Formats: sequence, C-alpha cells, structure tokens
Amino acid sequence: MPSTQNPRTYRVKSFGCQMNVYDGERMAELLAEQGIAAAPEGEDADLVVLNTCHIREKAAEKVYSDIGRLRRADGSSPLIAVAGCVAQAEGNEIMKRAPAVKMVVGPQAYHRLPDMIREAGEGRRVTDTDMPAETKFGALPKRRRSGPTAFLTVQEGCDRFCTYCVVPYTRGAEVSRPYADLVDEAKRLVDAGAREIMLLGQNVNAWTGEDARGRRVGLDGLIRELAGIADLARIRYTTSHPNDMADGLIAAHAEVEKLMPYLHLPVQAGSDRVLKAMNRSHTAESYLKVLDKVRAARPDIALSGDFIVGFPGETDAEFEDTLKLVDAVGYAQCFSFKYSPRAGTPAATMAGQVPAEVMTERILRLQAALGRDQTAFNQASVGKTCDVLVERKGKFPGQWLGKSPWLQSVYFDGDVTVGDLVTVELTEAGYNAISARLLSPAHP
Ligand code: 5AD
Ligand code: SF4
Repeated sequence: MPSTQNPRTYRVKSFGCQMNVYDGERMAELLAEQGIAAAPEGEDADLVVLNTCHIREKAAEKVYSDIGRLRRADGSSPLIAVAGCVAQAEGNEIMKRAPAVKMVVGPQAYHRLPDMIREAGEGRRVTDTDMPAETKFGALPKRRRSGPTAFLTVQEGCDRFCTYCVVPYTRGAEVSRPYADLVDEAKRLVDAGAREIMLLGQNVNAWTGEDARGRRVGLDGLIRELAGIADLARIRYTTSHPNDMADGLIAAHAEVEKLMPYLHLPVQAGSDRVLKAMNRSHTAESYLKVLDKVRAARPDIALSGDFIVGFPGETDAEFEDTLKLVDAVGYAQCFSFKYSPRAGTPAATMAGQVPAEVMTERILRLQAALGRDQTAFNQASVGKTCDVLVERKGKFPGQWLGKSPWLQSVYFDGDVTVGDLVTVELTEAGYNAISARLLSPAHP
C-alpha cells in the first residue's frame, strides 16, 4: 500500500540546468539517508520531487501538467514536492492552484526536506523558500556514489542581474562554497568512481575561496588543487561570465593538463546596444578579446556559448551583429534561445517586444550558422588521436559512447567498460557525433 504519510519510495525528476541535476542527486542522497528507497523504474513512487527550471519558456505551465500526470488510475496522488526555481519564484501560486502539492521547497532550502516530509505526513502543507545565510551543503549527506562524470556545485547564485534573467531572484546572491569542503567532496566523488569532475556555478568563474595556506584564490587555484587528485583524470567548469575570465584561469588552460580544452562562455548577442540593454557589462569586442587570450593559451580550445534572439528592441541590423560575431568566433557548440519574458525581470516590461515570427526567423538563421560551425569543428577533428572517457554503451552491440576532450560525443567499437579512459583515432564526423577507432585499451 503506497503511503504518503510515511513514504517508502521516492522519485526525483530534474529539469533544466546541470545545477538542477546536481541538486536532484543531492536530494536523492538525502532521501536515501532517511531510509526512503529509489522507486524501481516503471513503478509508482510514494514521494515525487519535481525539481523545476524557470529559466526559459513556459516553465510554470509545465509544472502543472506534470503534477496532473502524477495522478494515479485510482484517483490518488503520491506525496508531491515541487522544488527548484519555479518553486522559489511561484511557490505560493503553486500551493493555491495545485492541492495535490504538499511541499514547496526552494533551491537553497532542500536540505530541510526530511522535516518537511514529516510535517506533510501529519497532514500539513509546507513551503520553504528561505535563503538562509548558512548554506544547505553542510546539512547534506557525504557523497558516496558517482558515475564516471560527476557534477560538483562550487558556487551558486548570481549578482550580475542581466535584465532578462531570473537566476539572481531564484538562486539568490553569489555564494562560493569553501575550498576545503570542495576538495573534500571532490575526493569523495573520485573515491566513488568519478574520473571527471564538472565544476558548476551560475557564475562559476567568480568562485573565490581561501586555500589551505589561507591565501585568497580564484577558480584556477581550486582547479590546480583538484588536478592533484591522482585518480581524477579530467576537470571542466561551467558556466562562466566573460568579465570574470581572470588571467590566472586562462593560464590554467595552458598549464593544467587535466583541465579540458573546452570553454562555455555565453555572449548572448553581438550588438553592443543590445548587450547594454541586457546589462551584460561587456561588449562584443571585449568578449572577442577574452577569447583571443584563451585561444593564445590553449589553441585547440573548443568554444561554446549561449545566445538569445529577439531581446526587446533588437532590430534586424542588431541581429546581423550576432551573426557576425558567430562568424568571427567559429564555435564548436552553442545553445540558442528565443527571448522569453520572465515576470519580475526588467526586460519583461521593456518596450519593443519582438513578434514571434521574427524570433523564429532569427533563431533559424542563427542555428543554421551555429550548426555549420559545429559540423566544421567536428570535421576538423577527424584524424586526431585523443582520449575518450567511456560513458555508456552505444545503440549497437559492442559499441561504446564517450566524450572527447573537446566534449564531442564519440562512438567506437571495442572491449571496454564504463569509466575507462581509452585512446582513439577520430575517423568520421557529423554535426552531433564522431566515429572513432579504438587504439589502446583502458589506461589509468
Ligand atoms: N529568455 C531566453 N533565454 C534566456 N536565458 C536566460 N534567461 C532567458 C530568457 N528570459 C538563456 C541565456 C542563458 C541561458 C542559461 O539561458 O542564454 O545564458
Ligand atoms: Fe543570469 Fe546574467 Fe547571472 Fe548568467 S550572468 S545567471 S544570464 S543574471
């Protein structure tokens, strides 16, 4: 008999960014520590956590339809908690509109889930969207499980207030987790099987902390320390702001072998007027200068970015500036979005909202250009010999899938296993993936 009073199984469904995936993993660990087990695939769970994303599109409507879908054939519902950024932004509204939801918990408060579950079991509906001064991390269980690639949140929140973005409101002010805690969590993840660690933060390159000798260091200091963990093979970080690309971090790309040659550096637009209206505090030129420095440090670096088309007031000519910037950079991979107003952000009420059909036309043109560059980047990799971290089996028997240093998906045949780091020769490339020939089996 499934119980909402004393749930025995859980399911956490995470949407959106990698930080949400990280939070979802931490919530799962927390629930497991309470003796609640992961619900087997295909079976109903007593407790469902919807870990929502609010950054783009119709996030709130999606939450309501997800809640509706959780209703079982007999009309009952599991114990439902809404977590994540929609919970933070629209918690009260969710409680009013969706009686099936018993808990609303924001991204900075989910360490309190066990208490909330107890209260909900007593019939109360509980909301916790506090952003307490002490962070949740100390209250979470130690890491014990990991796949070959692990996420590690090092920094949360954002002080930059780009005018289109909800993050400063839903995730709060920038907070860097302490150096020693991060080194400890990284070591535990590696002990649990991680070969690659992806350092996460909304503004990850603004991370700062005090190293073991009490010196103030930036993200490069942390990266250099983590590179000393023997069984850790690869380090990545995302997402960065152009104005926080410190020289030390750029130098790390030249000097730290374990730091992978990949940089996700969102620019959003190519027009300086639009960038100013977005409150990005960089220009197209200053952004390109940063990329020049990064390329000087690491010539083979794969560059990635985010773009928004149709920001309020964006003219045709201003959109052309975005295409020019794309041509100037030659990205390896990018994410592009239609501007979508977020209630409470300055851009939502700006004049000159761009009609839907204009946005569609612009995003199609942008994605064609980005697709062309991504394919070209992949094709230019053909013939290279590189390491691949094996992530999972491919579609066909004997086939495996992993990531190149440049974060390309690489397929190959061979006798390997998940978590192996193998050497391959890249043989054939398309837009999304590269085929390869296995040269050497697993090596440490
Ligand atoms: N509309 C469209 N895209 C957005 N992003 C953030 N807010 C919005 C919005 N309101 C995009 C930006 C950011 C990425 C994570 O999401 O490109 O870099
Ligand atoms: Fe949002 Fe801008 Fe902060 Fe990125 S830098 S999280 S886009 S406010």
